[in-house]
This record gives sequence, C-alpha cells and structure tokens, in this order.
Amino acid sequence: MAQLWGGRFEKNTDAMVNDFNASVRFDSRLFLEDVKGSMAHVKMLAKQKILTEEEAQSILVGLKGIADDVADGKLEITSEYEDVHSFVEASLIDRIGEAGKKMHTGRSRNDQVALDMRLYIRDEIDETADLLKGLLETLENLIEKNTETYMPGFTHMQKAQPVTLAHHLGAYFEMFRRDRERLISVRERMNFCPLGSGALAGTTYPLDREYTAKLLGFSGICRNSMDGVSDRDYVIEFLDALSLVMMHLSRFCEEIIMWNSNEYGFVELDDSYSTGSSIMPQKKNPDIAELIRGKTGRVYGELMSMLTTMKGLPLAYNKDMQEDKEGTFDAIDTVRNCLELFTGLLSTTKFNKKKMKQSASGGFTNATDAADYLVGKGVPFRDAHAVVGKLVLNCIKKGISLDELPLTDWKAECPKFGRDIYKAISLKTCVEKRTTAGGPGAMDKEIEENRKYLKGEKENG
Ligand code: ARG
Repeated sequence: MAQLWGGRFEKNTDAMVNDFNASVRFDSRLFLEDVKGSMAHVKMLAKQKILTEEEAQSILVGLKGIADDVADGKLEITSEYEDVHSFVEASLIDRIGEAGKKMHTGRSRNDQVALDMRLYIRDEIDETADLLKGLLETLENLIEKNTETYMPGFTHMQKAQPVTLAHHLGAYFEMFRRDRERLISVRERMNFCPLGSGALAGTTYPLDREYTAKLLGFSGICRNSMDGVSDRDYVIEFLDALSLVMMHLSRFCEEIIMWNSNEYGFVELDDSYSTGSSIMPQKKNPDIAELIRGKTGRVYGELMSMLTTMKGLPLAYNKDMQEDKEGTFDAIDTVRNCLELFTGLLSTTKFNKKKMKQSASGGFTNATDAADYLVGKGVPFRDAHAVVGKLVLNCIKKGISLDELPLTDWKAECPKFGRDIYKAISLKTCVEKRTTAGGPGAMDKEIEENRKYLKGEKENG
C-alpha cells in the first residue's frame, strides 16, 4: 500500500490491518475538495514565502493535471492508497517530483480532512436547500390551485373540522421552509476554516490562515486549533437537519399512503410513481411513498451513530472520526433521492376533490360551527356545545348528517336556531369564516408570504 508514513516502522502493516484502516474506498468522494484545499494551501505558502513561486506554480499545475486526469478517467483512485489525501500527494510527487514533496508543509491530514469534510458538507447543504426550494415551489403551486378544495381536518385520526387542501399543504410548506432555514443556519455556523490547525497544535511556519480561509470562501477561521481538528458538530447538526427533512417527508408520505387507500380515495398516484403486485392484478401500490417513510429510519440511524461515535472522544483527533464519512454520505444520497422522488410524486398526484368534499361533509365536521352559531345568538359556548352534542346524537340515531336534520329538530333543542343555520354550517361557510391568521379562511395571506419567501424577499431567502 502506498503510504505517507513508514520511516519509523521496521515491518509492513498486516494486510487486514491495512484494509481495516484505509478509507480510500469511501473518502475518494472528497477528491475535488482535497485538490481545492491543497491549491489554496499552496497559494498561501507561496504568499508567505514558505514555498517559492516556481514551486507553487509547479504544484498547482500538477494538481490541476491530476484533477483533469481523474475526470477523464485517465487516472484512477485505487485501493492501493490509504486515503484520498495519500492518493493526491503520491500522484503529485509522481507527476512533478521534488516540489510535490513540499505541498504538505505546515499541514496535517487532521486539518486537511477536517477541511475536506467541511467543504463537502457546505456544498451539500446548498444542494439540499435547492431541492427543498423545488419542493416548496411544487407545494405552492398546489396550494394556490386548491384554496376551495374542501377536505376534513383530523385530530386523533377522527374527522374534526373542515379545512381545504391548500391549508393542509400549507402546513407542509411551513415544515419544509423551516428545514431549509435550518440548513442555511447550519451552514453559517460551520463556515469556518480549520486549515492551519495542523495535527492539533498549529505549526511553527508563518501561515496566513485568514488568507487560506478567504480563498476557500469561509467567513473566518476555526479559532482554536485543537477544536479545528476535532470538531464534528457540523456533521451532527447537518445529519440532524437531514433527519428532520426525512421526518417531514415521512409524515407526508404516511398521509399520501392513507389517502391513496381504497377507504379514503382522496388521491390517485400517477402510474409512473406506482408499482404493481406480482400476484394481485388489481394492485397499484404506493411503494415510493412507503420507501421514503422507511428510509427515514436509516437517516436517523446515521445521526445516532455519529452522536455515539463522538461522545467519548478525548481531544484532539482520533481515528474514530474517520467513521463520520460513510454514514454522512449515505444520508446525503438518501435525502437527495427522497426529495427528488417525492417532488415528482407530489406534482403528478391527482386529488379527487369530489371524494374529499364528500368526506368533509360527513362526520359532523361542522358541529363546532353549529355551536358557534348559537354563540352568535348570545348563548354561552359551553351551553351551545351541549345543545349541539345532543343534536349530533339525534343525527347518529337517525343515520343522517346535521345538514339533513329538519329545522323542527333544531328548534326543539334550542329555539334560537333559524333557517339560516343550514348556510352557517355549509362547508363553504365553515371554511371561509375561519379567518384567524393561519386559518383555512386566511390562505390569501399565507400565499402572499409564501410567494415572497420563494422570490427570496425574506431573510435567509
Ligand atoms: N482518513 C482519515 C480520516 O478520515 C484522515 C486523517 C488521518 N489522520 C491521521 N492522523 N491518521 O479521518
């Protein structure tokens, strides 16, 4: 195995140890970040006269050549190397000779890997935030089209009060907006450069850490070098933010799975986002939504795994930290796939407005409005609640809904009921009168706010 060390060893490492210790199989994903970080480091070394201009130029050209060759498939990152950092350095020395041996001056793999991981996660945050924006746009589009699509709102899985599809989807808009803002705030907190922390205690060379940080687009440097090499909070915060994205996707999928069942029939999934059964010809299954729900556990697992890996680590760098990569990469791939697929699934789903309206009309979802009607006539709410409770019981016994109850029955329970009760408990009125900010009758304000957010007119936009 090509290694960066070996001087003080008298024997080769055992093959199985090599294998167990190596990370190139997965950290090759940090290749571009590694090259980018090395370029910035070398530019800084030249500016500080630690390297000559010629040496720096030759290293920069060499690094660019390596990046091009890997992109073209002319050079392969093989398991012959311990990790991606070894691959880049060994390839550079192969390519340019002596000057290549100077690249690692004033640097350790500890601050190097901390840098690579930060650069990688920073980009992934931006990409996830963009995917979330795409989902928010899809949601907003549906919200605007469905302000009059009535459906039952549930509590305890029991029909509670009528809402609209716009209002229901509006709740998810809020969740995914918070997810996006959360990611952006993780980015702000992590955007500091660890390079220059060295192995743990900085270096004796006159590095200009601020300069390197600036070249790499960081807002500053990690202030303490021991923290610089051993902080993985940002990995955990990122996985936490991804877990919340998955939690929200999973709740939404759960609803779609229910709505897609024969019993609800609120939605029909597009053929392109459904699957069939090998035995039951009639089946059209919501496998994609189920898989997204299922993969949530996997992302939570990566979060727990990282929290556990870090919990007992003394300062500063420990090899345990190499375990931050596979789980994080898996979580990134999972969330990216889920967000893309879910956005496609949602935008192709057909909502059965008739079925939703029918469902909102049953189950006495307008009972609160009947009580509110009496409150409007001066009856205290608690008394009105009792009156309507009795009317509901009456309806249940008769097997009818409140809308079908004859006026005489209403009046028998409370003489304050008049013919206008029917209009007061119609679905349209029930929804339109709920104009409290945030309610289903105030969707115009939410829509306006959502539009502003999507146009980037809001902070964190
Ligand atoms: N592959 C290592 C990691 O991911 C790189 C840092 C190695 N540093 C060391 N002192 N062995 O953490």
